[in-house]
Amino acid sequence: MGSLSLSFETLLLERVDRVAIVTINRPDKRNALNAAVRREIIDALDALRADDGVRVVVFTGAGDKAFIAGADIGEFAERTPLQQRDVMSRRSVFEEIAEYPKPTIAMINGFALGGGCELALACDLRVAARSARLGQPEIRLGIIPGGGGTQRLPRLVGPGRAMRMILTGELVTADDALASGLVDIVFDDAELRARTLAMAGEIASFSPVALRLAKNAVRAAMETPLSAGLRYERELFITAFASEDKREGIAAFLEKRPADFRGH
Ligand code: COA
Repeated sequence: MGSLSLSFETLLLERVDRVAIVTINRPDKRNALNAAVRREIIDALDALRADDGVRVVVFTGAGDKAFIAGADIGEFAERTPLQQRDVMSRRSVFEEIAEYPKPTIAMINGFALGGGCELALACDLRVAARSARLGQPEIRLGIIPGGGGTQRLPRLVGPGRAMRMILTGELVTADDALASGLVDIVFDDAELRARTLAMAGEIASFSPVALRLAKNAVRAAMETPLSAGLRYERELFITAFASEDKREGIAAFLEKRPADFRGH
């Protein structure tokens, strides 16, 4: 395990082999997303994008209480609609994660509320500790989700469950989130980190080219009619055949040895 050379005020950045772990580090504020955290997440993603040694990015929260308890509510207090429009016209953490070329995993170690739930929704996979709680409680503050919750949540869990979470602001347990498809895996709290990193490490061993194409194809399924999606998949499948990693993966199988994927 190592630290990356970048340093941040509100994040911890670690590297475990080919997996980078971005930890939001404001535990006394339940890792709420203020302007500094948002800016630093984008800076970290830019640096990790350019680092070929990093193949998977995991997000988590510092401390044992929260993944991310949402937007920093204090910043909302005096903000006018015009100021809010200006804030939202900048690069969005949620869209940066959703469009990231490398696989992303939310390792949900506690409360994932509001923008925290939305950050998890923007990731490719959501892995939760059994004690975690998720929700979109914005309605209780007189506002609505603004980081993709009203759009990504219904696509993941269906409109009924999404509507219930967004209109009531009720939190759901990790096991309920698993049953609805809001999270993909639940681990016992003590095992969350090791098991998530084991899964991330396995993904990181695969071809970065194939991972990028696979991610791209699955995401397209949410935005295209089936016929267009199938055409798109076929093109990306053919694109995979242009990679060195395809040659290596097939050769390794036939030679009964592990593949060494290089990312081109
Ligand atoms: N924004 C700003 N500060 C937050 C925050 C947020 N979203 N969530 C928690 N905090 C702060 C609290 O104000 C408190 O600060 P203080 O110690 O200076 O008073 C500190 O974090 C600890 O919060 P506390 O409520 O005492 O912790 P808890 O463990 O009892 O409860 C939560 C944790 C997450 C359930 C609770 O803090 C909460 O409901 N937060 C707001 C969630 C929310 O509405 N998010 C959507 C925002 S749009």
